Amino acid sequence: MTHLPTEFPDFGLTPEQRRHAVRGHYYEWPGMDGARGEIWCYSDRFSYRAGETVALHVSSTAPSFSVTITRDGGSETKLFEKSGIASRWQESPDQCSAEGCGWEASFEFRVGSDWPSGAYRITLIADGRDGKPIHSHHLFIVSPQPGRKPGRVLQVAATGTWLAYNTWGGSNHYQGITGPDRNQYSPIVSTQRPWCRGFVALPKDAPRVPLEVAVPPKTVPRYPHMEWALATGHSKKYASSGWASYDSHFFRFAERAGYHVDLASQHDLHFSPDILDGYDCAVFVGHDEYWTWEMRDAVDNYVERGGHAARFAGNFMWQTRLEDEGGRQVCYKYRARTEDPAYRGGDVTRATNSWEAPEIGRPGSATFGLNATRGVYAGWGGCAPRGVRGFPVYRPEHWAFAGTGIYYGDLLGADSHVYGYEVDGLDFEIRGGLPYPTSDSGAPDGLQVLAVGMASQVEESADIPIEDQFLTDEDGRFTAETLFGEASDANLEKVKRGNGMIVNFPRGKGEVFHAGSCEWVAGLLRQDPMVKRVTQNVLDRYLGKS
Ligand SMILES: [Fe+2]
Repeated sequence: MTHLPTEFPDFGLTPEQRRHAVRGHYYEWPGMDGARGEIWCYSDRFSYRAGETVALHVSSTAPSFSVTITRDGGSETKLFEKSGIASRWQESPDQCSAEGCGWEASFEFRVGSDWPSGAYRITLIADGRDGKPIHSHHLFIVSPQPGRKPGRVLQVAATGTWLAYNTWGGSNHYQGITGPDRNQYSPIVSTQRPWCRGFVALPKDAPRVPLEVAVPPKTVPRYPHMEWALATGHSKKYASSGWASYDSHFFRFAERAGYHVDLASQHDLHFSPDILDGYDCAVFVGHDEYWTWEMRDAVDNYVERGGHAARFAGNFMWQTRLEDEGGRQVCYKYRARTEDPAYRGGDVTRATNSWEAPEIGRPGSATFGLNATRGVYAGWGGCAPRGVRGFPVYRPEHWAFAGTGIYYGDLLGADSHVYGYEVDGLDFEIRGGLPYPTSDSGAPDGLQVLAVGMASQVEESADIPIEDQFLTDEDGRFTAETLFGEASDANLEKVKRGNGMIVNFPRGKGEVFHAGSCEWVAGLLRQDPMVKRVTQNVLDRYLGKS
């Protein structure tokens, strides 16, 4: 075991700044860097196929900029470079997070026919008014061409969750500047805006959400990732979502391990479900919280027909809808039952609420075996801050663990801290020392529980005053109301104790493997041999290599 420090890291913030880092609402907005000036960029779409034209919408205080495009995979490959491109400042509407920036296209280029599928980082550099460079990053995905894909893996980036957490412009699905007092989260978020700082690229020392601290007793929780964000000028949500914190770690690992990986966006899955055709294995990783009905149909049909879905991800929570040909994502979340038009004469099965809301009738477990409302927090705040850092293993004889040397009762991935910060679970019982889903858990037929750890929906401590709690019991109360109609203490009692699982089940002619934790990718990033071995066992079996 690595020995953890017993004190929180210090990034030079005052106590007031530390409080603001966690409680405050800070975000990227046009004009934020004042006299220095800024350059920002978004593209008209998230993904393109070879031969298609990418339109970059750029707003800059400088009259010209240079651009480089680099494929961010197992190795970095620079594919395009150009300087002296004209730019100007373009005004953004106040509610640009929801409405889109509406900037004119500044620069177009064709995706080369020899550019392999993957993630492409765009770096824009210009001169700041103080003579020092200003820069920004953007990312687009090159999706695969149709056709048979023998031996290839398709990774679907969690772009719905990126959108939900994008702080650029002031509003996302968590916090915002909407409503009469400019303090509401926005149920509508636009794709037509830049990514916030830290979603595309991050320094290696950026903290992850789960604590790398052995928290002393009765310690008021702290949040190193948000403190670091405020101290270094990154998005408050950089560690919650984005290519840099999550999806990139799987993609790079897989390429370095010799797999042939293609990348698609969730928009591709929604609008072109046939993108899965021809693949033996589809992969979903990281913090993967927002899905549409159509995306689930795509995966369900693919698995029924014989596809293999591997999810190394957590928090399968919300149904979203896409509007404006994908330009807007809608999710009313906690306000769905009062505000979502789906409840007022619309199709209530498409309500942008938790998948486990009974009126939707499609719990998350029906697709990936696990439910978000039975999982949730582990390893941060007042939710199991000293809890397990890896998955407690109950069925070490399962094929996924072959060659790992793991035993019954071991923790898989504890050194690399793969368990957290949000996990998905099922109601279960232990018989003869083995976990089984309960009959009303929603588990698909034939589901085997390979590993289970504890999680919590509620911060509960006699030692920590309520004003020092960040997560509180808010999510637990919401789950209680969603599942049982009322946010009462009695219903909270039914939902507050969660868990996170690794499960495996057959479906139709196909199969699903699901390690239900956001932080699985931390094991790949940190080169944890057991986590790598399990990941490869799953990929190899699903690609027909073993
Ligand atoms: Fe989440």
